[in-house]
Order: sequence, then structure tokens, then C-alpha cells
Amino acid sequence: MQALVLVGGFGTRLRPLTYHVPKAMVPIANIPFIERFVDYLEANGITHIIFAMGYLPDPIANHLAKRNSKAKYDFIVEEQPLDTGGAIKNAEALLSDRFFVFNGDVLTTIPLREILKVHEQKGALVTIALTPVDDPSRYGVVVTDEDGRVQAFIEKPPKETAPSNLINAGIYLYEREVLKHIPAGQPYSVERGLYPKLLEVDAPFYAVAFHDDYWLDIGKVEHYLQANFDVLSRKAPMPIAGKEIQQGVWVGKGVEISSTAKVSPPVLLGDGCVIEDGATVGPFAVLGNRVTVKRNAIVRESVLWEGCIVGEEAIVTRCVLGSHCEIEANVNVEPDRAYGCGERITAGVPA
Ligand code: GTP
Repeated sequence: MQALVLVGGFGTRLRPLTYHVPKAMVPIANIPFIERFVDYLEANGITHIIFAMGYLPDPIANHLAKRNSKAKYDFIVEEQPLDTGGAIKNAEALLSDRFFVFNGDVLTTIPLREILKVHEQKGALVTIALTPVDDPSRYGVVVTDEDGRVQAFIEKPPKETAPSNLINAGIYLYEREVLKHIPAGQPYSVERGLYPKLLEVDAPFYAVAFHDDYWLDIGKVEHYLQANFDVLSRKAPMPIAGKEIQQGVWVGKGVEISSTAKVSPPVLLGDGCVIEDGATVGPFAVLGNRVTVKRNAIVRESVLWEGCIVGEEAIVTRCVLGSHCEIEANVNVEPDRAYGCGERITAGVPA
């Protein structure tokens, strides 16, 4: 079975992290998102993956080239952003009679065979996976009849007026025929263009809801942090790169933890991390390779990419730090935000 994965977006909501690293390459518990995603596709029987790329394609392609993969890959790079639908149309020459399409930024365990089963039973042109969320106002809400046939597709409705909490999970199964509804060579959105059009022409457009499977769109800083924490706490049942030395504490190779440091699970420390005297790491902390947390510093509910240095007595809470950030001693880093790769943080907020 074939899959087209959309990984061409700018990832503006994850800036400044995505100024140099495409969203598909951000690490989730120290494993690049795309690596986890390809594992998921392969485990679900996908044998051919087409990556529709645009912004910063090289880091993704280079990473995948090094991977020992079972699936065959193809890469298409758009000259201008074509949006979701335009990107699918642009891959037409490579697409088979039936194929999956994925937003390349959802961390999920939704089983693809269930989508295929419904698609075949209903004789659908398009089948879309749905997932429940608490606040559907930032997503595409999908309303179906009792038979699962889509009745309405409402992009970003206000929370109070949303007719359902079931949203578009960014996973679709298409018959090739649907491509005739998408204009060629121009930006076009499946959410705002194709799906309303399918309803207009009364095409067999079905949906299947997954209430029990893990699903999270990692596109916002808050959700990116959550995805990391969900992997650590095992809410997202996915591999963790490291050895579990005590319950909920995973470490890579050559990690040094002072006997006076406090490591509170769940925590993941990458290869070569150093946790100095009196420092506190966790709960909920992911440290990439070679991160140093100096004397009496505190790192909680945060994700630090490789090579970061947290100065003495500094405090980091609910932050994402891109690679090689350096925090000066005694700085209480402003929480609930991301810092770009290589930033030197010299001032914070009062502790
Ligand atoms: P934001 O700028 O933060 O909204 O992120 P984004 O650019 O990734 O947009 P969004 O999250 O809405 O995109 C959903 C999925 O579609 C992501 O996996 C994107 O990489 C992908 N995508 C969005 N626009 C394009 C495009 O023009 N071309 C391709 N190939 N993929 C796209």
C-alpha cells in the first residue's frame, strides 16, 4: 500500500525552532518525528512512501537516506508551496489507484487497516480518520450520518457552535479518481476546497472515528511538549531511546549524574548528558545528547535539544530549547515558549 506524506509546510507555529529544522525533523523523546512516523507507516503495512516536500527538504531526505528502511521512498520538492491539495495533485504521476495521505505532523497509533476496512465496505471515494479533542475550534470538525457518511466539514468553528468534538485527524484514504477534483499547478487546500466540493457533488465521502488510539498534532509548542511527555509517560505507546535505569528514568550512553543531583521521573537523558551537583531534572524533562545541567540548576517540564548548557542556579520550566542554546547562570527562563537553536539566554523573568 502506498502513502503520500505532506511535509512541505513552514511550521510557523513552531518558530523559532523551525527556522533551521523542518517540523518533520523535530525530535520527539530524542527520535526525529519523521523516523517515528515512517516506523508507524511500515508497521501498518505501507510499502511505498512519497514525501511531498517544500520548505527545508534536505534534512528530511538526508536523514531518511541513512535509514535502513523496508519501504520504498520517493521525494517530490515543490517549487512553490502548493498547500495540501496542490501537493497531492503534484504527486499524481507517482500515485497508484488507492493511496493514503497524511499530514506529516501527527503523532498517532491510529490503525490504518480499520480505515481501509470501512473504505472498502462503503465503496468510498475518500475516507477520513477522525479523532476526539476537547477544543475543536482550531481544527476541521466533521459531522457524519449514522452510516459514517460525511455530512459537513467545518473548518475551525467557534467552540460553542461546534456540532461535534470529532475532528479531521489528517489521515485520508483516497481512490485515485478523486484527483480529478483537484486543480493542477496551483495552491489548493483539501480542507477548504476538496472536502466541501465532495459534499457538493454528493461523492461517497466517509469517516471513521478512533476514540481509543493516541493522536496529537505536534504543530504548536504546547503540543510539541505534550507529545514528548506523552511518550515519556507511556500515554503514547512508542519507543524511548535509552536504557531505563530506574522506573521512568531513561538514559543514553556515557551519562554522568552527580550523587547530589535529583532526577525525578519521567525523564530522558541523551548520550553524554552531565547533571551536576545539586541540580534537579524532571519530572517531565527530555534532554538531547550532550546537554549539561550545571550546579543547582533546575529543568522541569521541558525539552532541551542536543548540546544545550543550563548555567548554575538557572531555572527552565515548560520550555523548548533548540540545539546548543546556552542559559547563563541564575537566569529564570521565561516559560511556555520555544527558543531557537544556538540562542544565548542572558535574561529571564523573576523567579
Ligand atoms: P504552520 O505554519 O504552523 O501552520 O504549520 P504548517 O506549515 O505545517 O501547516 P499545517 O500544520 O496546516 O500543515 C499540515 C500538514 O501539511 C503539515 O504536515 C505540513 O508540512 C503540510 N503542508 C502544509 N502546506 C504544505 C504545502 O504547501 N506543501 C506540502 N507538500 N505540504 C504542506
